[in-house]
Amino acid sequence: MDAGKTTLASLTVRQLDDKLKTLLRLRAARHGRSMEDEVRVILREAAAQADRSAGERFAPAAHPKAQAPSSAAESGPRIVLIIGGGIAAYKSLDLIRRLQERGARLRCILTAAARHFVTQLAVGALSGSQPFTELFDPQSEFDVGHIRLAREADLIVVAPATADLLAKMAGGHADDLATAVLLATDKPILIAPAMNPQMWVAKATARNLAQLAADGVGVVGPNFGEMAERGEAGLGRMAEPLEIVAAVEGLLRRGATLAGKRIVVTSGPTHEPIDPVRFIANRSSGKQGHAIAGAAAAAGGEVILVSGPVNLPDPPGVTVVRVETARQMFEAVEKTLPTDVAIFAAAVADWRAESPSASKIKKRTGGTPTLKLMENPDILASIAHRKTARPRLVIGFAAETDDVVVNARAKLTQKGCDWIVANDVSPESGIMGGDSNTVHLVTASGVESWPPQAKDRVAHLLVERIAAALDGAER
Ligand SMILES: Cc1cc2nc3c(=O)[nH]c(=O)nc-3n(C[C@H](O)[C@H](O)[C@H](O)COP(=O)(O)O)c2cc1C
Repeated sequence: MDAGKTTLASLTVRQLDDKLKTLLRLRAARHGRSMEDEVRVILREAAAQADRSAGERFAPAAHPKAQAPSSAAESGPRIVLIIGGGIAAYKSLDLIRRLQERGARLRCILTAAARHFVTQLAVGALSGSQPFTELFDPQSEFDVGHIRLAREADLIVVAPATADLLAKMAGGHADDLATAVLLATDKPILIAPAMNPQMWVAKATARNLAQLAADGVGVVGPNFGEMAERGEAGLGRMAEPLEIVAAVEGLLRRGATLAGKRIVVTSGPTHEPIDPVRFIANRSSGKQGHAIAGAAAAAGGEVILVSGPVNLPDPPGVTVVRVETARQMFEAVEKTLPTDVAIFAAAVADWRAESPSASKIKKRTGGTPTLKLMENPDILASIAHRKTARPRLVIGFAAETDDVVVNARAKLTQKGCDWIVANDVSPESGIMGGDSNTVHLVTASGVESWPPQAKDRVAHLLVERIAAALDGAER
């Protein structure tokens, strides 16, 4: 017997309190060993367990510890989820579940601040593996574990992305595990910002966000709503877990990434004033245009949505410019140029009142006023015919009630655009204001008729087609 070990064992036994000594004596008797030998066995088992844990912390992501042995868990996307220190961190526990339901293999990193909001235990139990917390961790950094974490991922999600994390990312900091992994990765990054509305509109946050968008970082949210602080509401709530999952799916969809691409989308109707209280409008709800803007942002694009008056929330991760009239919409679109893609889904009024009255037109006996109309600018044709700063892909929408495809083909030629998405908006189709759409994609090479489907689905398919078209043009 080794003298050193005997000393350690006897020292250990001598220092135990009476209750533990009794337990040790019983255990040793059960195994037919001396108390010292029993201590040695316990120490050996503990050392072996510690080795196993260290190995598992850096086991290849293809074999995550204690995850459901489903085929999806073996082949699903590898996602590193970074949880920042904000109130919304509790929602990330649900996000873990939602991502796993879709077969994602997760590794979680908690910032030091995040540990004030959610426990390592909760994150570990839900994700099925020990979360990572430390950059200077002797157990995981013996082979520069943060670089492995950054590389062995298909996507990195930061949720909640605090104002502080946005600033560090934009500045290229790497002074803790989360920021070191973010800087060391060459994989797509998706952030779900969550903060007080005042922090969100702060100039520094806007600067950092613009930098991150330019760096190709995908953004989902934030949403408008109540804050954790009592009585406060505004823009700053973290996107809901399912919205984040949708954005993750968009980013992961092969060939559909629009990272680094700038896209302008128009949506909704325009209102053309007749007098201060009356206007000419149409029945467009904006649902299809907003869904396209959201899908393009979820695919990593930098999206500017120029929207007429609608009753819809802003799509997550999109810059929204609100306008009323066709002329304002045209001006706003021109200001967004240059862009890679322009998608004109708005139902722009063809005409406006030639001389809107500055005061309310009074009802008079013995006569009705005559409304003289004049043409509005043709936004689609003007942008498609531009000699300079013409987007590489100009897509128009055709809302038709008769001969949908024939009219769409004619429109493609007249307007000089690249694609027309044609839909039948006759009242019986229920498309205007409804949640589904039946579209025909008209291009120079032919017509594709898509089956009836949800407007969200149409949006995703269109974004996939756009990404593929841009990708093909670049090769
Ligand atoms: C109660 C409380 C709530 C907070 N909520 C947020 C938040 O929602 N968003 C945010 O950006 N910062 C929030 N902070 C501030 C961050 O925790 C702080 O900036 C921290 O340094 C962020 O660290 P991290 O970015 O490394 O996670 C909060 C702080 C406290 C004390």
